[in-house]
Amino acid sequence: MENIIINGGKKLFGEIEVSGMKNAAVAVIFACLLVKGKCVIENLPNISDVDTSLKILSSCGANIRRLSSTVVEIDCRRAECGRSPYELVRKMRASYYLIGAELGRFHRAYVGCPGGCDFGIRPIDQHIKGFEALGAKVSVEGGYVEAVAENGVIGNQVYFDSVSVGATMNIMIAAVLAKGTTMIENAAREPHIVDLANFLNTCGADITGAGTDVIKIKGVESLHGCTYAIIPDMIEAGTYMIAAAATKGRLKINNVIPKHLESISAKLEEMGVYVEELDDAIIVSGEDRTFNRVNIKTLPYPGFPTDMNPQMCVLLCLAEGTSYLTEGVWDSRFRYVEELNRMGATIKVDGKTAVVEGGAPLTAAPVRAVDLRAGAAMIIAGLTAKGKTVIDDIYHIKRGYDGIVEKLRDVGAEITEVITPDPAAFDQAN
Ligand code: EPU
Repeated sequence: MENIIINGGKKLFGEIEVSGMKNAAVAVIFACLLVKGKCVIENLPNISDVDTSLKILSSCGANIRRLSSTVVEIDCRRAECGRSPYELVRKMRASYYLIGAELGRFHRAYVGCPGGCDFGIRPIDQHIKGFEALGAKVSVEGGYVEAVAENGVIGNQVYFDSVSVGATMNIMIAAVLAKGTTMIENAAREPHIVDLANFLNTCGADITGAGTDVIKIKGVESLHGCTYAIIPDMIEAGTYMIAAAATKGRLKINNVIPKHLESISAKLEEMGVYVEELDDAIIVSGEDRTFNRVNIKTLPYPGFPTDMNPQMCVLLCLAEGTSYLTEGVWDSRFRYVEELNRMGATIKVDGKTAVVEGGAPLTAAPVRAVDLRAGAAMIIAGLTAKGKTVIDDIYHIKRGYDGIVEKLRDVGAEITEVITPDPAAFDQAN
């Protein structure tokens, strides 16, 4: 059993590097299936979701060479349809991009239903609606999604009923090699959507409008290989911004695009945290500060990111007064609240809103990472709490944070990852 153990109460000081963005990397990896040539993908984060994506692609017949810890060469020329192992696909949500990629390349797809963090119901109806608009017949049976476009993939207008990051990227992937033009309306606008479009355009695609709510994809005959670097991970950056503030330390967070962090910076400033934007870095300090209560609602980009909900909740626990944190994207994203309450937080969940009574310090406790971002929140909480916090189920954290233990240790945290026999972890730590 693996745990993260934190001896909290230390302020973080120094510089910390942000890795490539998970949610861009996984889409770009699966999009390589469309390319007739070698793609060299740089600035890949060293995380298990990237490893799983590469393993899935490899099982489809792709030739994959690791050139360094952050650079991979992917050659999908000999890949085949329908060979992805169910056990791998169900490990993560992003495997749904394989459906779009197989459909785009082979005009048919056969992929196990995707897994991922548990936020309640996670439908893929908008993905299916889009594939159908492009001429595919889609069925879900026996845990598999099957899509068949007998007359090929044909460009069309796709209007999403709700804003979906995954559906936007999946339809973009499926439509790149289509006959004719596809217009995605009510598209999501996240930076990773722009990154995927930039990657595909570098390979010869014709995509315009990514980053707005209307994306136009003119189908092209084929895509060629390229070298492409993934953008920095705004959620990893945001996590370290909150860690700096919550520990009342000061961090210079390098390799970021400050524009992507604006909603997070704005909320931190409203709370009284010091934030300074540089060209490709951001300085955050919580030194000698008390934090104001605020209200937050998570929304699609450029709103406050849902993937920062749990981490922000930790800071709200330390703010003076009562804050209201409303989840505007997922049905259920508050499973972590029970864990924070174990650490002395006073949070009540009322429907989609967490009511956070702030002002009291958190106390160390054994807690679980109930999902990826919840795990990051437990780390931040543990960093602020005096004494030893033991975090269980850290495989969630490893899905999305590249070297988080080492990075935090380098800026002053007392944090280690240990392998211990199950129930002894907390006893040993004390
Ligand atoms: N939705 C539908 N139908 C669909 C698709 C989505 O109703 O066909 C709903 C969802 O239930 C949800 C909302 O639309 O209520 C938004 O879902 P979206 O499709 O945007 O999410 P996703 O693509 O499945 C990605 C990230 C998540 C992140 C969300 C929102 C990846 C691999 N995952 O998920 O990231 O929370 O966008 O920004 O890109 C994480 O990194 O920790 C993470 C969970």
